[in-house]
Amino acid sequence: MKIGILISGRGSNMVALVDAVKSGEIPDSEVAVVISDKPNAAGLEKAKARGVETIVIERNKRTREEHDADIVAELKERNVELVCLAGYMRLLSPSFVRAFPDRIINIHPSLLPAYPGLDVHERVLAAGEKVSGCTVHFVNEDLDDGPIILQKEVPVQDGDTVETLSGRILEQEHNLYVEAVRLVSQLESFRLRQPDLLQ
Ligand code: GAR
Repeated sequence: MKIGILISGRGSNMVALVDAVKSGEIPDSEVAVVISDKPNAAGLEKAKARGVETIVIERNKRTREEHDADIVAELKERNVELVCLAGYMRLLSPSFVRAFPDRIINIHPSLLPAYPGLDVHERVLAAGEKVSGCTVHFVNEDLDDGPIILQKEVPVQDGDTVETLSGRILEQEHNLYVEAVRLVSQLESFRLRQPDLLQ
């Protein structure tokens, strides 16, 4: 399965996916490209250091549709079959979502449908939640919406700050994202085997 990863920043989830593909934990897969909308995203160097092709596609003054059309073209050119959003901080246009039906997944640092959007940990702490976590889900045209693939609960501890809570959740994000992509790749190989099973 050819994977394309979209990032906007640090790229630690991207690194977890690239390393899991390299180690075979995510089998029969290849990370074909990492695309960032930000030229200074720290994840770009991390991807290059792992031998993965990187591309920067900035939005500049273009419409969301124009920006997304460029990204879709690069993904299609490389025959990408699964698009993983890994800290990609933009809402995808409907035409992007339609270009990869049921083949775009995202990780979000909350137990969706609770706390979609930005400043998740601030809001979780302000609300006095005792439990938070992370979610991997299929992407649709709405923000942090779409069918959930996997979730992991993470306790909120007394005295937690945004830094301590986000760090504890991020550790779990890396495991959860790898597990979710492994599941999706197994589903893909099952789909490919299905014609034989039906004979
Ligand atoms: C992660 O916590 C991810 O869940 C979050 O951004 C961070 C990116 O970190 N994504 C969202 O909030 C999407 N709505 P990373 O660049 O180190 O993977």
